[in-house]
Amino acid sequence: MQFDAKALQSRLTGRKMGWLLHYRETVDSTNRFAMGLAREGAPEGTVVLADRQTAGMGRLNRAWQSPPGCNLYLSVILRPAVAPPEASRITLLTGVAVAEAIASICPAGVGIKWPNDVQIRGRKVCGILTEMATAGGSRAVIIGIGLNVNIKRENFNPGHRDTATSLWEETGREHSREDMAFLLCERLERWYETFLHAGFAPVREEWLARSDMAGKRVRVLFRGEVQEGVVEGIDRDGALLLADGQGDVRRITAGDATIMKE
Ligand code: BTN
Repeated sequence: MQFDAKALQSRLTGRKMGWLLHYRETVDSTNRFAMGLAREGAPEGTVVLADRQTAGMGRLNRAWQSPPGCNLYLSVILRPAVAPPEASRITLLTGVAVAEAIASICPAGVGIKWPNDVQIRGRKVCGILTEMATAGGSRAVIIGIGLNVNIKRENFNPGHRDTATSLWEETGREHSREDMAFLLCERLERWYETFLHAGFAPVREEWLARSDMAGKRVRVLFRGEVQEGVVEGIDRDGALLLADGQGDVRRITAGDATIMKE
């Protein structure tokens, strides 16, 4: 079904964030498009949403499968007064907002996997890619969200069929992409406000409550190096804290985490 961008914009109009939607049927990547707008000075609350991406980007230089007519691909421009390392806090904040939005329509089994995956029953339903844009001394954070809404299992790339899922697969029914996009923006706005006024502590608390990982043994792979340990939590900067069983706790700031079977 065609995406109703007008309906979404009118639901977002009048909110504190001043949401301004740029809808395109096809883009290479909504993050790249939003990056261009941010460099031209687009304000906070600008959203780029596309029906389809021809070069959707995932973390660590991976591609993000982005077929038309079924999912959500959107990028939001924020302009918080934070230093670049704090951008990881924004990624975690977005994970909380997305998990909350998904849990409101699919109550069981929704969890966050560090750093940025939202899963249902251990399968990835959403990925988040946060990037910084700088131009002429001003800085913006681009938050890219890819949410599998109505895609069917048989249409996932074969390599993802057993590890990815969609809202359709989990609930057995079609979901309105406009409703989901609205819900995402609304929750994102709420958690961003909380972060600006109360700092990272409430975000961190909610992240831990919604995480699939606390107390679990995980393996983190980054640039060929493997770290293993039991998750103690995340620190004030959003780094993963792994206890190695010998009394040491390591801070992990990047990588791909796998939760190990008990
Ligand atoms: C990941 O889990 O690897 C992150 C995936 C992020 C995908 C989204 S889709 C919308 C936005 N535009 C992109 O090119 N990537 C992000």
